[in-house]
Amino acid sequence: MPDQFIIAPSILSADFTKLGEEVKNVVAAGADWIHFDVMDHHYVPNLTFGPMICESLKPLTKNLRNKNNESILIDVHLMVSPVDALAVSFAKAGADLISFHPDATQHVHRTIQTIKAQDCKVGLVFNPAQPLDVLDEVIDELDLILIMSVNPGFGGQSFIPASLNKIERVRRRIDSCGKPIRLEVDGGIKVDNIRQVADAGADAFVAGSAIFGQPDYKSVISQMRKALS
Ligand code: DX5
Ligand code: ZN
Repeated sequence: MPDQFIIAPSILSADFTKLGEEVKNVVAAGADWIHFDVMDHHYVPNLTFGPMICESLKPLTKNLRNKNNESILIDVHLMVSPVDALAVSFAKAGADLISFHPDATQHVHRTIQTIKAQDCKVGLVFNPAQPLDVLDEVIDELDLILIMSVNPGFGGQSFIPASLNKIERVRRRIDSCGKPIRLEVDGGIKVDNIRQVADAGADAFVAGSAIFGQPDYKSVISQMRKALS
């Protein structure tokens, strides 16, 4: 397991009337990555935002540092189909890591190659009913595996408990492949369940409503880190 846990607030639940300020505040409150939930109203029943949001925030995130003085990674979660063209646009707009759903593209390995060709880190995202077997073929190509602990499309949903077993299975796969792959979990992560999710093997946590839904971001993120320590 990498030596530190990653807290990645999802801007899906941020106040879009002051998005830049929200990003600054959540980084000052202790966030490590900024998670972009990109939805196309085709692969999922919701429509959010495109590469221009990434482009507009990149100059800001480039000058921000997390608690370890590392730059703030733009973590783009594509809930779109097809994937390749939008992935390239997000990479050109400044995404540092792009994850996509294997069932959203015709050719998983080619999409991985397309993202890596943009000098961007790459991840695969698994919905609650999506089997893990594609990892048999491509796990060595990945920087991240993202487990959805809700069905994709909306923030503020409840954590699906069966996700814990899936996280454990992914942790075993990562440990046996020996590569430094991040295991991120997305959906219904709260102060009162983050420890359980970490104990199952996760080391990166997306949280939207749990953070942006509270008045004091620093207090929430500190409580999450305390639960993880
Ligand atoms: C679902 C989204 C949400 C979001 C997190 O498609 O991906 O899971 O990131 O939302 P919360 O933290 O509010 O459950
Ligand atoms: Zn997400």
